[in-house]
Amino acid sequence: MIIEDIWFDLKDGRKALLRSPKEEDVESALEYLVVSAGETEYILRYPEECGKYTAEGEKVLFEQKNASPNEAMIMCIVDGKVVGNCEISFFKGIKTRHRASVAIALISEFWNQGIGTRMFQELIRLAENREGVLQMELDFVEGNTRARHLYEKMGFRITGVRPNAIRLKDGTLLNEYMMIREIK
Ligand SMILES: CC(C)(COP(=O)(O)OP(=O)(O)OC[C@H]1O[C@@H](n2cnc3c(N)ncnc32)[C@H](O)[C@@H]1OP(=O)(O)O)[C@@H](O)C(=O)NCCC(=O)NCCS
Repeated sequence: MIIEDIWFDLKDGRKALLRSPKEEDVESALEYLVVSAGETEYILRYPEECGKYTAEGEKVLFEQKNASPNEAMIMCIVDGKVVGNCEISFFKGIKTRHRASVAIALISEFWNQGIGTRMFQELIRLAENREGVLQMELDFVEGNTRARHLYEKMGFRITGVRPNAIRLKDGTLLNEYMMIREIK
């Protein structure tokens, strides 16, 4: 699914663009994947696990996402570089097609600039405009208070816990919390 370009101002005054991925984003997206993985324990990959991502793979992935009626990938671009990404996936089965799952991650230089809020406004708009969708779903890792604040602000509520879902390299076990936002 392709979204229309959305320009907006970051809190520090820089201009940001939300748009669907393009081939020109491939190198920048690969860098974003590695950098973001090394900056927080709250996303599900370590930097060394990004070796499996290749330029060709990203290009194909972008094409698949843009062509899919059930998925949208949205890049945030600042000064020509990918600084964050979010996705929505609509479930396809007859029994599950009332559900959509979402995910988001930005590189740390761009946290707290309002990008997450603007991305979620767009994700919610996409879900609301899709016939038959009754709820949006996401997960966050214990301790991720910034993400939790954003999600609660955008209308999500905690509906469950997956105990010890995450095990860090040092052995620390963290719960994962499930959230849902109903579509009225
Ligand atoms: C979590 C994340 C997506 C939020 O996006 P963002 O662009 O930073 O969010 P915004 O700037 O739109 O909003 C952040 C809000 O959290 C608040 N906040 C910042 N730090 C916080 C903290 N430690 N605890 C609670 N709230 C916090 C801000 O004040 C702001 O609230 P407001 O809009 O009511 O003023 C982003 O920080 C990120 O990518 N983090 C790393 C990856 C990650 O955790 N992804 C989510 C996995 S579930």
